[in-house]
This record gives sequence, structure tokens and C-alpha cells, in this order.
Amino acid sequence: MKIVLFDTKPYDRKHFEAANKAFGYDIVYHEPALSRHTAVMAAGADVVCPFVNCTVDRDTIDILASEGVKLIAMRSAGFNNVDCPYALSRGIPVVRVPAYSPYAVAEHSFALLLALVRKLTHAYVRTREFNFSLSGLVGMDLHGKTIGVVGTGKIGRVAIDIAKGFGMRILAYDPYPASIPGVGYADLDTLLKESDIVTLYCPLTDDNRHLINADTLADMKDTALIINTSRGALIDSEALLAALKERRIGGAALDVYEEEAGIFYTDQSDMGIEDDTLARLISMPNVIITSHQGYLTEEALTAISNTTLSNVREFEEGKELSNQVR
Ligand code: NAI
Repeated sequence: MKIVLFDTKPYDRKHFEAANKAFGYDIVYHEPALSRHTAVMAAGADVVCPFVNCTVDRDTIDILASEGVKLIAMRSAGFNNVDCPYALSRGIPVVRVPAYSPYAVAEHSFALLLALVRKLTHAYVRTREFNFSLSGLVGMDLHGKTIGVVGTGKIGRVAIDIAKGFGMRILAYDPYPASIPGVGYADLDTLLKESDIVTLYCPLTDDNRHLINADTLADMKDTALIINTSRGALIDSEALLAALKERRIGGAALDVYEEEAGIFYTDQSDMGIEDDTLARLISMPNVIITSHQGYLTEEALTAISNTTLSNVREFEEGKELSNQVR
């Protein structure tokens, strides 16, 4: 089996090479993301392996099909960037890595939250310049605060456990509520109104695009903090920026951004960015942005490469695809 990985970085190659010792596949690593413009680079591949900012739409899938690709093996949990029904209609199943380390993402969301509430990015820059003043660095205890957890799946539940450790009150919203000790479910309106921190752990779907928008932002406390480690388009960035500028919201920490494709995972330090909304968000003192790195731990990368190659092995052996997107 020949597998072509798109949108790869040195750390992807390192972990896939290690995992492939047990599989022995012919793996090709491409740096560009998969899209209709790059799909011809899959020529000769049995399997393509896209990542979160690839665009696997109908045009791309048509080219993959004409190149003889038989399987799309996402090396991510999310698959909102793939037209899965169309791929299947062209005879190409889509598999993914549904769980690799919920701890990686949940822990990153708390790293962001702590950095935001304790103004660590400002403190770090100050002490590097031997400025030991504390003015403007007054933070907030997490203990006793209400955290609104949107999505109580694998990552959300790890986040809930972490929040319990901080002594927070936990409110949750999920269309499929679970029974989790110490967690009270509420409707989304109530959660947004009562939470000091709103943190998102749900997939992006057609129904929840811009879940956080001008109207829902208006429902939130003007001191509330928003953490998003799920998918950028869950938040209307323009509306968030407006709320931040007008001080109708306390701050935001974002690992994802709705227009991140083509920007995140690249070094643009020599030319700046054309996206004015992102540039303005980055410039705000109460905003922290990381470049979709929630998953980026040794443990997660190891699990991603092992599960991806196991998914390919199931396909090769004609077995039922346990991680197929239906
Ligand atoms: P999961 O499938 O275990 O849980 C998702 C939960 O969200 C489910 O309980 C589901 O019922 C709920 N949900 C669905 N629609 C909802 C809505 N409109 N409002 C509230 N809840 C809703 O998924 P998991 O593993 O917890 O991952 C969650 C998301 O995290 C992924 O879909 C992906 O977008 C994102 N992610 C981000 C990463 C990063 O590096 N920043 C890495 C991995 C995942």
C-alpha cells in the first residue's frame, strides 16, 4: 500500500516513521495541504492522509478518484473539512482517528485559560526585559468560578475532571447529556448567561457554525472568558472582535480560528498576515492565540500515527473499518 500524507511537518514524519516499523508501508510525505490544486500529488497512492486544514471537497475527491485513491485516512478526530458522503459515493471510504489523547487538548485548553487569567504572556515578556513590576497583572482565582463546558464527549469530560481539581462549578451543555457526577446540564442560553468561562469541546457541524455569535455573546457576562480548542468556525470572529473592542466580553483564548487554513502551521513572520480580523485579535491584550496545537504532544502524535496505519491495515485486509466516518 502506498500512502501519501499531505500537510506534513517534520514531527509528523518522525512519528509516522516510528509507527511504520510495524507496518512497512510505502509512505510519501508532502508539505502542501490537500486541495483541488494539490490532489494530483496523490498520483499512484492507494491511500491519502489529509489533516485538519486540507480541503477535501467534491473537486478534490474527483481528482483523487481519478488518480486511483481508494481510502481517505484522516489523521485527525475532526472531519468537517471532508465531504464524506460524496467520497463514499465515489467508492472512497473515509476513516479518522476518533481518539488519540483527549488529555492533550483538554490540558491545552487549561494552559490557555491559566495563561489568560494570570496574564502569563505579559508577565513572561516583562521579566525577560528585567521589568519586575506587577502593575496590570492582577488575575482571577478559578476556584469557585462557573465554567460552561459545551460538549461533554471525550475531551469535554477530561476538561471537567481538570475543572473539578480547581474547585470550579461546572455547567454543561450537550444535545446528548451524560450522567457525570458533579456536573449540572443546562440549556445553552443558561450556560452562556451563568458562566464565568465558556469553553468549547464540540465538533463543528452545519447546525452549530457560529454557535458563538453577536446574539449569544450579548447573553454572556461582560467579564466572561471564551476558550476554543475545537474548531474555529464555532465562533463568529468578527462578532467576537466587536465584543472585545466594546468590552462586552472579558477575553478569549483560541487554538483555532475560522480562517486558519493557509495561515496556521506556516511561518509568516517575515511578511505579516493579510487577515485583519486575526491580526486585530492577536493585538489585543486579553486575547491569546495558538496555532491549532492542542493535539501536539508526543503521546497524541504517537497514537495518531499508530491508529492511522491500523485504519489502513483494516482496509487492506478487507475488514470492517472500525473508525469509518458514517
Ligand atoms: P467527542 O465526539 O468525543 O465529543 C463531542 C461531544 O460534542 C459529544 O458529546 C456531542 O454530543 C457533543 N456535541 C455535538 N454537537 C454539539 C453542539 N452543537 N453543542 C454542544 N455539544 C455538541 O469528540 P472529542 O474527542 O471530545 O473532540 C471534540 C472536538 O475537539 C473535535 O470534534 C474537534 O473539532 C476538536 N479537536 C481539536 C483538536 C485540537 O488540536 N485543537 C484536536 C482534537 C479534536
